Amino acid sequence: MALPPKIITNKDLEEMVETTDEWIVSRTGIRERRKLEEGLSAADLAEKASLEALEAASLDPSDLDLILVATVTPDYPTPATSCLLQARLSALNAGAMDLSAGCTGFIYALSVGHQFIKNGACKNILVVGVEVLTRVTDWEDRGTCVLFGDGAGAVVISASREDRGIFSFSLKADGRGAELLMVPGGGSAMPASLESISNRAHFIKMNGNEIFKFAVRVVEDTLFEMLAEKELKPEDLDFLILHQANLRIIEHVRKRLKLPKEKVPVNIDRLGNTSSATIPIAIHEEIRAGRLRQGDLVAMVAFGAGLTWGGLLIKW
Ligand code: UT7
Repeated sequence: MALPPKIITNKDLEEMVETTDEWIVSRTGIRERRKLEEGLSAADLAEKASLEALEAASLDPSDLDLILVATVTPDYPTPATSCLLQARLSALNAGAMDLSAGCTGFIYALSVGHQFIKNGACKNILVVGVEVLTRVTDWEDRGTCVLFGDGAGAVVISASREDRGIFSFSLKADGRGAELLMVPGGGSAMPASLESISNRAHFIKMNGNEIFKFAVRVVEDTLFEMLAEKELKPEDLDFLILHQANLRIIEHVRKRLKLPKEKVPVNIDRLGNTSSATIPIAIHEEIRAGRLRQGDLVAMVAFGAGLTWGGLLIKW
């Protein structure tokens, strides 16, 4: 994973908008988040996380067949950040594409990569979730600016004959909810103009209440459906890695599934919502702490802009 060193605390936010540490902690569980320094971009965080993932996988960049970058905050509208990353890594045998599925981006990208591995088209794929959300955060909107942070996580998936890996996935979307969470400006619908900038249209707009209700519903449904399909029960899980959008959502789902805290990693308290990076960062932290081990049964579920949601079951 890669995290910028600069920390923004809730106390810092108290100086910027009408909010309190108590409100932010009790409503979201967030205590601090990271902010990338000016001059750096998503590709910088992606590169750092990717080099670490390649080292952990004992692979050379030239071994990669494909690079998938999940992000809603690419360096540029075009070219794709995955191409910038491919050049930086000198992974010249790899194809490269970005994937935009909101905070579900990492689940989507891992599921796409899984198909290329399964059908034999690729041997090694780099999958990255990276966000620099502080660049699209409206620092005058207390409803959103307290939530988001910057970071990246990367994994390498490889073909293997061992009896483990991704064995189930679920990808869902409902575009009718597109307006509940969006950055309205900067695309073909509303190109950048003096007016769009003065209307703050290039920042995230979110209906938090509606997203909250949607999230609780789809996370539970996705989990129960995926487990039932494989005739598994919640207690069979060694880990449930949830998208980190709000500690209340995580705790609600954890309690519904009657899972102990140590099976449901949390990084939102320290990092805020890093969108498509929350899950790969959690993976990194659990592996480095020696908790996530080979053979563990892991479920991952995310939800976000689109609206999108989805999950994976993995035998680690
Ligand atoms: O990654 C996927 C995308 N994002 C999410 O999943 C986010 C999902 N939604 C949420 O996490 C929650 O809805 C929020 C944390 C965004 C908001 O929490 P809430 O409990 O739903 O609060 P609310 O929006 O209903 O607002 C309650 C009150 C309002 O005041 P009034 O109208 O009751 O007087 C807000 O104006 O809290 C006020 N408020 C704040 N007060 C202090 C909103 N933001 C703040 C703030 N500090 N930062």
